[in-house]
Amino acid sequence: MEIQATNTSRQEWTGDALAIGFFEEAIELTDTLAQLDEKLGGTLKELIAETEFKGSVGSSAATRVGANSAIRKVMIVGLGKLEALKLDNLRRAAATVARLAKKEKCKTLGISLPVWNNDPAATTQAIAEGVLLALHQDNRFKSEPEEKGRQLEQIELLGLEGQEAAITRAQQVATGVLLARELVAAPANAVTPITMVKTAQAIAQEHGLQLEVLEKDACEKLGMGAFLGVAQASDIPPKFIHLTYKPEGTPRRKLAIIGKGLTFDSGGLNIKGAGSGIETMKMDMGGAAATLGAAKVIGQLKPEVEVHFISAVTENMISGRAMRPGDILTASNGKTIEVNNTDAEGRLTLADALVFAELLGVDAIIDLATLTGACIIALGDEIAGLWSPDDAIANQLLQASEQAGEKLWRMPFEEKYFEGIKSPIADLKNTGPRAGGAITAALFLKQFVKETPWAHLDVAGPVWADKENGYNNAGATGYGVRTLVNWVLSNS
Ligand code: BES
Ligand code: MN
Ligand code: ZN
Repeated sequence: MEIQATNTSRQEWTGDALAIGFFEEAIELTDTLAQLDEKLGGTLKELIAETEFKGSVGSSAATRVGANSAIRKVMIVGLGKLEALKLDNLRRAAATVARLAKKEKCKTLGISLPVWNNDPAATTQAIAEGVLLALHQDNRFKSEPEEKGRQLEQIELLGLEGQEAAITRAQQVATGVLLARELVAAPANAVTPITMVKTAQAIAQEHGLQLEVLEKDACEKLGMGAFLGVAQASDIPPKFIHLTYKPEGTPRRKLAIIGKGLTFDSGGLNIKGAGSGIETMKMDMGGAAATLGAAKVIGQLKPEVEVHFISAVTENMISGRAMRPGDILTASNGKTIEVNNTDAEGRLTLADALVFAELLGVDAIIDLATLTGACIIALGDEIAGLWSPDDAIANQLLQASEQAGEKLWRMPFEEKYFEGIKSPIADLKNTGPRAGGAITAALFLKQFVKETPWAHLDVAGPVWADKENGYNNAGATGYGVRTLVNWVLSNS
C-alpha cells in the first residue's frame, strides 16, 4: 500500500472513497465543501442529516455516491471541538477512515483532514501512522490468510503536498510499533528468549547497531543473582540483551532503555491460578518488545544520541530447580532480596538490568515493564503509570507520550510505603501488601538506581487491548515504542 501527500483539492479528487474530517458544531457545507457536495448531487448533506452527524470525536459515517460519480463513496469523520484538537484525534480519525475503506473494499482512499497546530509535518506523520497501525493484520498463525480480494492500494493525503519525509518517518515508526506488536502477540512457544536474541540480531544487522548478548555464565560472573533466580526453572536459557545505537559523531547524551522481558510468566511456585490470566502472560515481555521496537526505529532515524537498549530475558517457570518462596537472592549491586512471592519476578530481573545500565555511565535510564496488576487497577488498561524522582525526565516523558497519543500518568513515590517491602532477614523483600502494589514495585526498583536520572513506566495495562480502539487492533498494541522514540529524539 502506498501513501502519498498531494495538493489535490477535495472537489477535484477522484477515486473509490473520499474521507472528510469535521469539527464538532462546525459542519456547515460552505465554499469548497459546497462545491464538492454539488458535484456529489447533495450526497454529503444528506449523509450528515440522515446520520445526525455532529462531528463528535469517534463518530463517522459513509455512503455510496450515485453511479456516475467520480467518487464511489464519501466518508465523514468527527474530530471534536476545534479548540480541543489533539494530534491524536487526527491519528484516530485516519484510522477510522482507513478501516472503513478496507471494509468497503476500496482500492483508493483520499483523506482530507485539517492541519494541527500549523504543523503539516506532524499532521502528516500522525495521519500516516494512524492508517498504517490500523491496517496492520497479523496472519502469522493462521493457516490461510483471512483476507483475499480487493485491497486498499493507495491513500492520498489531500493538501499535504511536500510532506514525503513525514510519511517516510511514519513508515519507519510503524516498523517498530508493528515489530513490538508481533513480538507481544506471538505465543510463548513462538517467542522465547532465543527468539528475542534473534530479533535483536536482525535489528543490529539491518540498522547497524552493536549487539552484546550475555549468556547465563556471563550473568553469573556479574553477580546477577536476582535475574538468574527467576530464570533458574526454565529449560530455555536466559539471555541478557544489550543493543547499542551509536551516532556517527560524538553523542551529546547517552541514554539507556530497559524493557521487562518475561517471555512467559507462570508465576513460578506462587503459580498463577485459573482465572488469574495466566494464559495472557505471553505479553509479559511487552516492555522488552517496545525496547526492541524503539531500537529498530532509532536505527533508522539516526539521531545524535547514544542509546543502550537492554533486556534481561527469561521465562518464569516451575520445576525442581525453581526458586522457592522465601529464598534469598543477591543482586549484582550486592543487595539481598527475600523472595516472598515468586510471581513478583519482573522487579527481580529489572534490578540487575538497572544496575547494569547505571554502570554504563549513561545520563538517563528509562524502564518499561508489565510490572503489576495493581497498576491496571489504579489506572485502567489504557494508561501507563510513570514513576520518577526526577521532574525533568518525568516531564520529558509526559510530553513525548502526549505527542504519541500513548497515555501516561505520573504516580507518587510514597517513601512511607517502603516499610511494606522491608524484610526481617534480608535487605528487602520483593512483595509488599496488596494495597499500593504498583508503588511498592516502583520503590523496589528504586533501590537499584544510585544517582542516574531514572523513570519507570508500568505498562501492564496498555500493551494489550481487549478490543479494537482507534489505531489499535484487538490484541497487542505496541505501546511505548512511539513515546520512547519521541523521548530519544527530544534528547538529541
Ligand atoms: N506480569 C505480572 C503483572 C501483570 C499482571 C501484567 C496482569 C499484566 C497483566 C507480574 O509479574 C505479576 O505477576 N505481578 C504480581 C505482583 C504481586 C505478586 C505482588 C501482580 O500484579 O499480581
Ligand atoms: Mn509475575
Ligand atoms: Zn510478570
